[in-house]
Amino acid sequence: MCGIVAYMGNKDAYPIIIKGLQRLEYRGYDSAGVVLYDGQDVHLSKTKGKVEDLKNKAEASINTVGKLGLGHTRWATHGIPNDINSHPHYSNSGDLVIIHNGIIENYETLKKALQERGYVFESDTDTEVLVNLIEEVKKKEGVKLGKAVQIALNQVVGAYAIAVFDKTKPDEIVVAKLGSPLAIGIGEDEYFIASDASPFIEFTNNAVYLEDEEMAIVRRGKEIKLRKIKDDAIAYPTIQELQLNIEEIEKGGYDHFMLKEIYEQPRAIMDTYRGRLRTEQGIIKMAGIDQNLDKFLNANRIIIVACGTSWHAGLVAEYTFEDLARIPVEVEYASEFRYRNPVITENDVLIAISQSGETADTLAAIKMAKEKGAFVFGVCNVVGSSIARETHAGAYTHAGPEIGVASTKAFTTQITILTMIALKLAKEKGVFSESRFHEYLTELEAIPPKVEKALESNVLIEQIAEVYKDSANCLYLGRGYNFPVALEGALKLKEISYIHAEGYPAAEMKHGPIALIDDQMPVVVIATRKGHYEKVISNIQEIKSRHGKIIAVVFEGDEMVQALADHVIEVPETIEPLSPLLTTIPLQLLSYHIALMRGCNVDQPRNLAKSVTVE
Ligand code: M6R
Repeated sequence: MCGIVAYMGNKDAYPIIIKGLQRLEYRGYDSAGVVLYDGQDVHLSKTKGKVEDLKNKAEASINTVGKLGLGHTRWATHGIPNDINSHPHYSNSGDLVIIHNGIIENYETLKKALQERGYVFESDTDTEVLVNLIEEVKKKEGVKLGKAVQIALNQVVGAYAIAVFDKTKPDEIVVAKLGSPLAIGIGEDEYFIASDASPFIEFTNNAVYLEDEEMAIVRRGKEIKLRKIKDDAIAYPTIQELQLNIEEIEKGGYDHFMLKEIYEQPRAIMDTYRGRLRTEQGIIKMAGIDQNLDKFLNANRIIIVACGTSWHAGLVAEYTFEDLARIPVEVEYASEFRYRNPVITENDVLIAISQSGETADTLAAIKMAKEKGAFVFGVCNVVGSSIARETHAGAYTHAGPEIGVASTKAFTTQITILTMIALKLAKEKGVFSESRFHEYLTELEAIPPKVEKALESNVLIEQIAEVYKDSANCLYLGRGYNFPVALEGALKLKEISYIHAEGYPAAEMKHGPIALIDDQMPVVVIATRKGHYEKVISNIQEIKSRHGKIIAVVFEGDEMVQALADHVIEVPETIEPLSPLLTTIPLQLLSYHIALMRGCNVDQPRNLAKSVTVE
């Protein structure tokens, strides 16, 4: 939700900021802005639209010279996306300028008080309130910018990652963080500030990640000074060496990040189990589980919390944990769980799943579960993310950066790691024999080449997409392990192609959705030979009798469904608990091609953002 970038050093700030904003566009892309200090004065340009629109506008209208600057790409919360509501925002005097990612929840009260004291506001944003609050504190208390930021933030309720500077003292940028991510890249005589490390990865491998409630004064030619916002205590920066490389955040020859990420899945799944799956030795090594085995083995139940695609991975895990390890599981939407006063005890284990590790609802659910004494385990992709830091222990998926807003490799790698945890617990509990355990490990190792094989259906899927690209609705059906895959397939289609799509357990169809079926309705059915196969075939017959169009995802060599369906997409055969890793692939490709044919922005679908750091 919004990306921020700032630069202070000896290079031209403008190209660094624009490129950085383009890399952060996954965080929000409804408007963008940049401000530059040219040694004399500041020059601001902002616009509704993408970073590309900003680039065109800025280069035509302002002097883009300067060694210090701030940039912002927005996902609107307060105020519609338009030029005025775009960041950066000036204070009333025009001296202070700010960029902000987050939400100031008490902004109405603060705004009213400032208005009573003569402040005027041109935008509808909470951010303009914050910069004026800082200005007022600075003037009233006669303090420096850093102190003013600190006093102002202590009056604020909400979440923020901010960078602010004073054009009358243009050798420092003050930054602060609570609930939204903020990294400071440290180069030679230069500093980069950004929502993540991608804007500065080609310039430096050294970065400091601010903790919540920390602020820093970043001065030209000086070391960074960190402080706690609440009590002014000095904090000591830990400089981390970044592992990210530039290829990972570029498209690498693909037209879209989503397509690249779909094709990366064989490698990503392998990276998830690499070093953990030791088939020869008959073990799964996972430090976060090994060190807390008693917590899992003695748990009354496992509660899984997540949102969106990660929630769907959680649903798959419900099947694996219960089916394989015989541990009771509940899967909850983090947003509902946190507000419904759930019963949580010290004997519960909560698993939070999140690609970004920044999802506000999931983070809040974790904090609540911790307060109630539960042991909290995180499954995240982004290393060092807020959720990874907030949980007691965890396991990274190691999928690599996922930039397309629609989650693809995040989903399959989450399923991989959760399946490994279930298998490990099944073995430790004695539910699995050595030979069965070995069989599962061997089959898991065989998944990456099978995903490669599944990807070979791309051309066929493109042809199917051509037939259904103008559909108004689409149904997705699956049973057992493939019911969550149906939900995920429907989510992928609706979020990037804007076709209304619903996922259902196949047997539920007769309780309502069957009324929707006519000769205009495509129905995607996951009908693998393992698990309720005959029953799904009956569901297919029911759809056919009502003239629905059937696109079936089956295991290779299937003949029964072949005879019934309008289109058949084959994936290699595997054991049922691992089938979601393969059946998901054609559904990702189908939504990709349909969205592309409808002229949609596949990587940046409307109204969405990659990490949802607001409630
Ligand atoms: O980063 P997270 O996994 O916590 O994100 C959760 C959802 O916001 C995310 O999965 C969202 O639903 C995706 N756009 C789905 O493709």
